[in-house]
Amino acid sequence: RKRVAILISGRGSNMAALIAAAKEADFPAEIVGVISDKADAAGLLVAEAAGIPIRVVPRSDYSGKEAHDQAIDATLHAFGTEIVCLAGYMRLLTDAFVAEWQGRMINIHPALLPLFRGLDTHRKALAAGVRIHGCTVHFVTAEMDGGPIIAQAAVPVLPDDDADTLAVRVLKAEHRLYPRALKLVAEGKARMVSGATVFDPSTPVVSEMA
Ligand code: GAR
Repeated sequence: RKRVAILISGRGSNMAALIAAAKEADFPAEIVGVISDKADAAGLLVAEAAGIPIRVVPRSDYSGKEAHDQAIDATLHAFGTEIVCLAGYMRLLTDAFVAEWQGRMINIHPALLPLFRGLDTHRKALAAGVRIHGCTVHFVTAEMDGGPIIAQAAVPVLPDDDADTLAVRVLKAEHRLYPRALKLVAEGKARMVSGATVFDPSTPVVSEMA
């Protein structure tokens, strides 16, 4: 089983979905640690209750972004990490850190990339008037929310939606999608090669439509 660490900044519901999936005997990865840049991240309590080792690495303890990311990197190595999952980690990572974990670090983004990068994705989707929205798991590269796509899930945008109701629908899809995408990566069935995702030919594509 691949050794997976999860980086969070807040609620940690995607983290919880990964922890739950990894409890299954046949899941190809185990969660060896959770790291937060925020001491008050609610997800830390959830991880602790699940018996997962937690570490807080606050930005304010370090002189700059590089030193902060180096401390996170050291913590990942101390966990014996093989794969990093970003799950609501709300800080941009330095190029050196991204390069170090290239092909071994994945992120979940609450939109159908390449649409709606960055923050406030549900508001952006409503403003754009799209009738289908969703979430994406992708390999992390130096370009924010720009790395090669591993899996996506789509949900409808309903006439009465506001950003909150849409967020709830997308979040449910995120919780199903992220474990499926991690499984592909942990099994080596989705790999990043020259900036693109290469899938094992026998692997069914993970595209979920609500
Ligand atoms: C999730 O919707 C995730 O996709 C999003 O933040 C939320 C975290 O919720 N991530 C980003 O916006 C990354 N820029 P969670 O802490 O309950 O998983």
